[in-house]
Amino acid sequence: MPSPTATLPSPRRFLGEPLIAVLRHLREALEVGTACTIEVPDPDLGRGHYPGERVGPEGRLVHRPLRSWCDLAEGLSCRLLTPRAVDGTHVALTFERLGPEAPWHAGGDEADTPARERYGTESAFARVHKLEDAGFLLPWLEALGRVRLPPGARVLDLGVNRGDELAAFAWLDTAPDATFVGVDHSASALAEARARFPDARHTFLTADLNALPPELGRFSLILSVGTLQSRGVDDHALLRRLVQEHLEPRASLVLGFPNSRFRDGEVVHGARVRNLSEPDLSLLVKDLSFYRRYLHQHGFRTYLQGKYDLLLTATRGET
Ligand SMILES: C[S@@+](CC[C@H](N)C(=O)[O-])C[C@H]1O[C@@H](n2cnc3c(N)ncnc32)[C@H](O)[C@@H]1O
Repeated sequence: MPSPTATLPSPRRFLGEPLIAVLRHLREALEVGTACTIEVPDPDLGRGHYPGERVGPEGRLVHRPLRSWCDLAEGLSCRLLTPRAVDGTHVALTFERLGPEAPWHAGGDEADTPARERYGTESAFARVHKLEDAGFLLPWLEALGRVRLPPGARVLDLGVNRGDELAAFAWLDTAPDATFVGVDHSASALAEARARFPDARHTFLTADLNALPPELGRFSLILSVGTLQSRGVDDHALLRRLVQEHLEPRASLVLGFPNSRFRDGEVVHGARVRNLSEPDLSLLVKDLSFYRRYLHQHGFRTYLQGKYDLLLTATRGET
């Protein structure tokens, strides 16, 4: 693949100009090209300084940390390539326009793929490995760390897919002997989950979340990540049913709500509403308000954390 910088004009060098000047330069360049390289003060020169503080010889350079450049790239719908050193004070940053969003966000189904397999092993979604992304792994470990489980606890994962969320239990003391029950309507993803957790105590059921088998029983922990807001899932009815019929008196839930979109290999922060180009968190806030209120009414204490997925942890009956 040719380098995105191969045919670019020589990069503009920034010293102490305000960020708005950098932003305008990038916007103009990205309107006509697919990538733009600029030279900026090496973020490492300003370690311990806040964005906008003066650094370098005679304070001629404005410091911006790498995180700020990552935010700028994200705000411009770009990928930021790894910074390359230019000289003792500057690095070259290349902003490359992102391609389209991942196909599973589009909502339509492939003509030859049933809706149940939209997230199956042959789908584009199978390329996502959340536990290999620090933006998910750290909050996930923190959320599971809040949960106290009794010996031999039963754990239910709704929308379990191939079982990524359950795989994290192997790294925690939370429940070394927990029994997993995973539910999903993708037969191919469940086949992978069964191969991954071959212990006969674990079960993976092909079922619709709107029609959970009554014999599922009760659980000490229910997990569901990126699933409750799926098209066709009546999540309010499901939550009521979980609390009334499938949770032990002393129990926890960890529910994940996407606050991001997958786009051209990147995870872009912010919940997006179809037909709106900017993130809009209002639907997410509305859903979370409902969940928190309902869970509080049923004796749960809740915690909300996370960035790319907001994780609502609810616990009841703990001292
Ligand atoms: C976005 S994926 C999330 C998978 C996994 N929890 C994760 O975060 O990586 C949603 C999952 O829910 C499943 N799902 C969606 N609607 C469902 C329904 N009505 N009944 C059963 N499973 C459903 C999909 O097959 C898929 O595995």
